Amino acid sequence: MKVAWVETVGSLDNLKLVERPEPRPGRGEVLVRLRAASLNYRDLVTTAGGYGSHQRRENLIPLSDGAGEIAALGDGVTAWKMGDRVTGHIFPKWLTGPPTEARLSASLGGSADGVACEYRVFGENEILRVPDHLSFAEGAALPCAALTAWVSVIAQGQVGPGQTVLTQGTGGVSLFALQFAKMAGAAVVATSSNTEKLERLRALGANYVINYKSDPDWGRTALKFVPHGVDLVVDIGGGETISQSLRALRMGGTISVIGVVAGARHDLNVPVLILKNARLQGASAGNRDQFAAMLAAIAQYQLRPVLDRTFPLADLRAALEHLKSGRHVGKVCIAI
Ligand SMILES: NC(=O)c1ccc[n+]([C@@H]2O[C@H](COP(=O)([O-])OP(=O)(O)OC[C@H]3O[C@@H](n4cnc5c(N)ncnc54)[C@H](OP(=O)(O)O)[C@@H]3O)[C@@H](O)[C@H]2O)c1
Repeated sequence: MKVAWVETVGSLDNLKLVERPEPRPGRGEVLVRLRAASLNYRDLVTTAGGYGSHQRRENLIPLSDGAGEIAALGDGVTAWKMGDRVTGHIFPKWLTGPPTEARLSASLGGSADGVACEYRVFGENEILRVPDHLSFAEGAALPCAALTAWVSVIAQGQVGPGQTVLTQGTGGVSLFALQFAKMAGAAVVATSSNTEKLERLRALGANYVINYKSDPDWGRTALKFVPHGVDLVVDIGGGETISQSLRALRMGGTISVIGVVAGARHDLNVPVLILKNARLQGASAGNRDQFAAMLAAIAQYQLRPVLDRTFPLADLRAALEHLKSGRHVGKVCIAI
């Protein structure tokens, strides 16, 4: 089978397409013929070795998010049948409950093999059914970005009708956050660096849009639209964005701290945090139960992920470079 392989992390020059024997499922395992994958910002970090000791440094099969069909069943598997359309859970040991070090110790395309390959073995409880209305590519868009947005907005954020959520940019996590916030009946203030992308955000249901490049004080601008402040910010910027997120927040609101695309360090204005009675809440995707709840909601609302371009597996490097360029809107996909 064909496998994308990073012999030593650190440079995309080390990413190769190689031949490897097809794996076989053991007891309680299934073999999945992967049909599609999707990229996350995380894949730029893992291939560069940016997660340090939390990831594999050699012989990495990258990518956490894939979908395909069951091609073989190991002994004792009763929950699945041949041909079932499934997607894998990014944290195979985090099935339920709160995060613990043990539950987060294995991650697909990080400390465990990823899905940039034609076949992969999964434990029978490490996979979930792709909703019937979605293609393999749409199913492959869900494991990391959608689950993180779901946890931010719904599971932790408890967002409901009448509330307002602020999202940042037009990448994978942010567009799912926008979609889930609208699904929950909330209004959305969405930012982007680009006028065309702001139009896409409006078309996706954003009530108010702000260009964060031409308007660096976008947190204050958000208050013109929502004078009492927004209830929740899904902050994917990290360093540079947290101050503006805090500015846009209502008293007692929450900043869901998700990513670091705008920097990993921040000089936090602590008095403002205290005076606003604000909460900073980190999240690392979510558990399998939360994934199942999200998939049920996606099926019920017939929600479809926003897909950007699709590249063949042989062009994974070009796909990662496209993601890095920031030209995409939504999920960059891989056909396998
Ligand atoms: N905690 C978790 O479990 C978890 C899970 C998934 C992702 N993440 C993190 O979340 C972040 C986003 O991931 P992703 O996969 O959604 O990334 P992505 O698809 O690559 O999207 C990145 C987007 O960020 C926007 N952006 C860049 N600089 C910005 C800034 N200064 N202010 C506002 N937006 C900015 C850009 O949107 P425009 O082009 O529209 O400006 C860009 O398209 C990453 O740091 C990732 O590691 C964390």
